[in-house]
Amino acid sequence: MAKLLLSSGQVSIIFSAAIIFLFTFALFLSGYVLQQRYVHSLQAAIKPRLPKPLPVPKPIEPPTLDVKWARPMGGRPKVDESVDQMIAGETLDWSRLGYVQVVKEHVEVCSALMLLSDLHEKKSPAKKILMFPRVWLRNVDDEEYDAQMSTTRRLLRTAVRRYGVTLAPMETIVDGADDSLPSSYSLASLYSLTNYERLVYLQGPGVLLDASALDSLLAFSTSEAMAAFPATAERRELSTSLLLIHPSRESFQQLKETRMATPVADLALFRQTFAAPESLISEWSLSMGNVVYESQKLRGTMDGFNASEFRAATTYVRLSDPELPGPEYDVPYTDRMRLRPKEGQAREAWERLYEQFRQRRMEVCGLDLEPWVRSAVGIAGAADEAAGEL
Ligand SMILES: *[C@@H]1O[C@H](CO)[C@@H](O)[C@H](O)[C@H]1NC(C)=O
Repeated sequence: MAKLLLSSGQVSIIFSAAIIFLFTFALFLSGYVLQQRYVHSLQAAIKPRLPKPLPVPKPIEPPTLDVKWARPMGGRPKVDESVDQMIAGETLDWSRLGYVQVVKEHVEVCSALMLLSDLHEKKSPAKKILMFPRVWLRNVDDEEYDAQMSTTRRLLRTAVRRYGVTLAPMETIVDGADDSLPSSYSLASLYSLTNYERLVYLQGPGVLLDASALDSLLAFSTSEAMAAFPATAERRELSTSLLLIHPSRESFQQLKETRMATPVADLALFRQTFAAPESLISEWSLSMGNVVYESQKLRGTMDGFNASEFRAATTYVRLSDPELPGPEYDVPYTDRMRLRPKEGQAREAWERLYEQFRQRRMEVCGLDLEPWVRSAVGIAGAADEAAGEL
């Protein structure tokens, strides 16, 4: 039988060896933990960040901007001095630049929302603002259920949640006017948005084909009270199809007073207040192509018109054909056939624009076209009825 006998000297040697081993191990362990931590923080630093759930609109990079707008041949009128810095890669405060839509009645809400959603989808970095009568925010009793109002509220919520739109309730232009009448409101209320340096207003309904030219216009222009799209090529009067404005308390007050003295429509009010050609967008700024185009002009095109070239050169098409009630209405096929452009390519462009509008209306607003009854009274009645079904 073998006996394991250890002297006290041997025990103490084994004991000290164990202690040394333990200490060494503890030292190794703490070193390992420290090293792992270091490696983790290194990995974290090297690893690409996770994409943010909602990309914050970033200033557009110079290559995205249409450089032609900033660097015209020859003279360069009315361009902000900061352009050179911006081209050099510096940023611009896009939170003070915006696109604004103004709705005075329920039937206009969807088209305004569609335009803002187009800008959202084309990734414009500017703010999107929707002005509407403040009275729409008033709570109504449940027994007085209003179908139009409920559609409007749904669309306003969609505007905020899905397209990041800022809602801006507006007052009647003349204090104390009947706030239930669309005619009590005015485009002049644009000038009350003094938090913004420059705003672009587009007259709807229409289809936005490209946002970069408008973004460039917003970014590179100097701030002036009014720079409007000219009514005609002769540049004698302004139109309200596209406005680039610098809101200010003074302009707002002036417009309000003029409007209070004479109850005129917006176009007349602006023509009275802002002289042409000083208050028109410079010819140079409009030389880039069709910034604003009216669909009815497609009926006057010549042979050789090219639909894809047209779309590439056009920023915004306002869908306006005088015989038609608007793209929101379902016009019978025979009427459309009679009115559409005769020339093949122009007809293709025209029909595609109306069809694009119809599809976007469903996608953005969840609304079908309104039935069209061929009389002014009929149109209003049909619109009410259609809204009533929702
Ligand atoms: C229109 O223009 C594009 C490009 O410029 C060209 O590829 C196309 O063939 C043209 N179409 C017609 C019908 O001329």
